[in-house]
Amino acid sequence: MSGVTFHSGENVPLEMHKVRIVQKLNLIAVEERQKAIAEAGNNTFLLRNRDVYLDMLTDSGVNAMSDKQLAAMMIADDSYAGSETYYRLEAKIEEIFGTKIFFPAHQGRACENILSKAFIKEGDVIPMNYHFTTTKSHIMLNGGRVEELFTDEAIKITSDNPFKGNMDIDKLLACIKENGPDRIPFVRMEAGTNLIGGQPFSLENYRQISKICKEYGIMLVLDASLLADNLYFMKVREDECKDMSIRQITREISDLTDIIYFSARKLGCARGGGICTNNAEAAEKMKELVPLYEGFLTYGGMSVREMEAITIGLDETMDINMINQGPLFIEYMVEQLEKKGVPVVTPAGGLGCHIDAMAFVDHIAQDQYPAGALAAAIYIASGVRGMERGTMSEQRNEDGSEQLSNMELVRLALPRRVFTMSQVKYAVDRIVWLYENRKLIEGLTFVEEPKILRFFFGRLAPVSNWQEKLVAKFREDFGDSL
Ligand code: F0G
Repeated sequence: MSGVTFHSGENVPLEMHKVRIVQKLNLIAVEERQKAIAEAGNNTFLLRNRDVYLDMLTDSGVNAMSDKQLAAMMIADDSYAGSETYYRLEAKIEEIFGTKIFFPAHQGRACENILSKAFIKEGDVIPMNYHFTTTKSHIMLNGGRVEELFTDEAIKITSDNPFKGNMDIDKLLACIKENGPDRIPFVRMEAGTNLIGGQPFSLENYRQISKICKEYGIMLVLDASLLADNLYFMKVREDECKDMSIRQITREISDLTDIIYFSARKLGCARGGGICTNNAEAAEKMKELVPLYEGFLTYGGMSVREMEAITIGLDETMDINMINQGPLFIEYMVEQLEKKGVPVVTPAGGLGCHIDAMAFVDHIAQDQYPAGALAAAIYIASGVRGMERGTMSEQRNEDGSEQLSNMELVRLALPRRVFTMSQVKYAVDRIVWLYENRKLIEGLTFVEEPKILRFFFGRLAPVSNWQEKLVAKFREDFGDSL
């Protein structure tokens, strides 16, 4: 018996924490929401948080902190060099991952910058299960190329494969054969694979990859930003992990890995990041880059208060009753939407609930940004802010044509331990209403389109007056309610 309580009655996830500090939320009226999204250029990144009811944009840096984390922040040791806070974090990382060398960095992409600068040369190839936006950019900036070696299941929207984040072993062997191990400085595996819907890899798959890497003398690098979710899924979905503790599974993973890096905006529920290894030679190559780009080796651009919070947060991550909260709430949300016919990515992953805009608004052409239009419509209908993960997030081709995305998703992130069950139910109800009225939603067109990272800064307009019609229908169905 693991002694774990996953659900209360009727399959409703059970919170294993209580709320002790609250932040007041605003729910502005639907007419005001329409005005706010217009002012934000129909781009949810440009909304002001005061106009947002439930902020499901991301789980990054917005997870709820525990009482113990807040308490630890008060005893942080402020010092440029040699802070006790650093040594506490370093010791916790060694306890959990078994790694003796730890380089702090201000967030996950800073670790990617250091790794890319230290190991990638012009023409190198980095095989991975799937790319993440910042990872790919850093690799390319340093002259490298990304090879995504996902399995066929990974990009199927609906599936019952429990490990869509696995790497295809045959593709890895073929990639090594084609490029030669000398052109491959490292293989990167991403835990809780973000862009395909927070999907995990299995311990078995990871072990096979590690074996191949060792055979060819290639380093295995783990992006552990979403490790908490991956650990939970291994524990509940993989036979060999059922009787292992979360600490044991973590140690098993880290023993198979040469370098672990993470965004502590996700892992550890605070803000920061770091690189962990036992490989002294690799560490030498990274060491001088830390003070150059981040800060001295004992803070790396982080506040010591956040470092104390990470130390406690990592320890709390080893508790199944902490790491199950995100995935269980997401599973609940996915199941409720699925029951009403709303197209969602399955099986439910970590990070958030992913809605398939390509199916939801299948009448909108991809060059009119179905996922962007749906994210704007969800905000108007509910005050919930999601993130477009589709063609808007791509960059145009050299000739100016659209690079149409494989998937058109709206991600509704559930930052860990932040939202209550009634808030999740509210989001589900409004999305179901929107699905029933989906024909009212039409596309968007760019009015200001930056060349790079257009999804962050770009401004769009509706192709017709569909948003006014949506608001009118809302009033008809919901009367005076917000
Ligand atoms: N790796 C993964 C898997 C991530 O999800 C992220 C960030 C990073 C690296 C970069 O870390 O933000 O601390 O620099 N993901 C955020 C998101 C931005 O919203 O999914 P960072």
